Amino acid sequence: MKAKSAEFITSAVRPAQFPAPGLPEVAIAGRSNVGKSSLINTLVGVVGLARTSNTPGRTRLLNWFRVVPQKGPPFALVDLPGYGYARVPKDMRSSWRPLIESYLSDRDVLRGVICLIDARRGAQNEEIELFEWLEQVGVRAIPVLTKIDKLAKSKRKPAGAALKRQLGLSRSPLLCSAHSKEGLADLWRTVSGLV
Ligand code: GTP
Ligand code: MG
Repeated sequence: MKAKSAEFITSAVRPAQFPAPGLPEVAIAGRSNVGKSSLINTLVGVVGLARTSNTPGRTRLLNWFRVVPQKGPPFALVDLPGYGYARVPKDMRSSWRPLIESYLSDRDVLRGVICLIDARRGAQNEEIELFEWLEQVGVRAIPVLTKIDKLAKSKRKPAGAALKRQLGLSRSPLLCSAHSKEGLADLWRTVSGLV
């Protein structure tokens, strides 16, 4: 399940710093602290590749990682800064949004966005807006409920069904956990299908 290799490529705080488009890219988006960086690390099997933290708002840049899977061609995973964290100063939030939007709406090599949603919280306004917005700009969004290790087994399917209804999805979302590693094989398959 883990990658053959994975390495940091570069970070960007503004569009001029985005690397020249090359490899197909899959971005990981979601609320601050939802576990984007953790999921990248567990998915590729490299501890500490993407920086994680208990402090929401840890990832303030876009970070590119080159991933060589066991099978198939190399691609890049892009760790996006989290949204929806109220304690981040307003001016900083207002500079993030255009940065993320400029990446998501204007990146030819972008094949899809893994949208992480905390299984205990479900989709809120920000998630619904993100899905609507991605649809508008024509970028494929892959809904994933994460941190399911925190949810009793009996509550997982209902959480998936609720999200499906809420976002009007045609299929149930993937359920996964960076900690227990549940659902990661499915996520790998999905990512491989995108690139
Ligand atoms: P920002 O960079 O701030 O946007 O956060 P992030 O989305 O990258 O989250 P990060 O990976 O830094 O994880 C935030 C916290 O959630 C850390 O304390 C992680 O240990 C925890 N966490 C991440 N994934 C999981 C998971 O699957 N299950 C549980 N229980 N905790 C998780
Ligand atoms: Mg992060």
